[in-house]
Amino acid sequence: MRDSYAAGGSGADDIKVAPQGSAAKGFPRPVILIGPPGAGKGTQAKTVAARYGVPHLSTGDMFRDHFGRGTELGVRAKAFMDRGELVPDEIVVAMIEQRIAAPDCAHGFILDGFPRTVAQAEALDRMLGRAGRSEPLVVHVKLDSSLILRRLTGRRMCKVGGEIYNIYDRPPKTPNRCDHDGGELAQRDDDREEVIRERLAAYEEHTQPVVAYYRQRGLVQDLDGSGAPEAVTRALFELIDREEGRGRHL
Ligand code: AP5
Repeated sequence: MRDSYAAGGSGADDIKVAPQGSAAKGFPRPVILIGPPGAGKGTQAKTVAARYGVPHLSTGDMFRDHFGRGTELGVRAKAFMDRGELVPDEIVVAMIEQRIAAPDCAHGFILDGFPRTVAQAEALDRMLGRAGRSEPLVVHVKLDSSLILRRLTGRRMCKVGGEIYNIYDRPPKTPNRCDHDGGELAQRDDDREEVIRERLAAYEEHTQPVVAYYRQRGLVQDLDGSGAPEAVTRALFELIDREEGRGRHL
């Protein structure tokens, strides 16, 4: 899947600059969306990117983009993803470090799926500190485990633009076709039940401690991800508008 600037890539030649329009204003604190698989991070990150004119950096999308282009990094990452395991920290950290140094991240960016381990969070702190940037706003998207399976088994993604649908809750107007570009919709390889169980276990073991890592520093805002997508979006925009500008430099 080749995504728009929203997914980005790890190499300088992959970097596409966020569109600048009247709504594009950016924000000083990098925003991190953190939450279990299926919480709606990708769905919501796209709305934030569009509203604030900042790039959406999804490490999962970056890996899928690499795999689609047949790069060595993509092939390595896919093996971990298909088992529901995390890709090793050094690979993810190097990819994100290069990406957030790009010019289009100068006025803010939204991270989706990173950091996912405490080691990644510490690496991000060092990157932001070296760049003289503000500490992040961490939005913890909460979702009851009973909803996760329905969200993930029902998910379909556009092979062209990466738009996210759900056959139960957010179906396309024409079955199996993207509303925006008519692209074919596909199911992710890791949205099979046995892999979902592994991804949830990885979340509990490695990513819940990241929420605690940021919470003890007062950086976490909880967001209920169980409402309709538009209601979650409204609450997220309110939260960002309220919290941005309150941060300290790292
Ligand atoms: P990644 O792609 O990041 O997957 P994830 O974190 O498991 O999250 P998902 O993309 O599954 O869910 P989401 O929260 O974005 O939900 P979405 O908006 O799509 O990572 C995949 C793999 O890559 C990992 O397992 C790992 O191997 C590797 N990886 C990535 N980053 C890594 C890192 N930093 N370190 C190491 N390894 C890494 O929504 C889900 C569905 O619900 C959709 O169908 C959507 O339409 C629907 N939906 C969304 N919101 C609502 C709503 N409010 N109401 C009803 N339906 C909704």
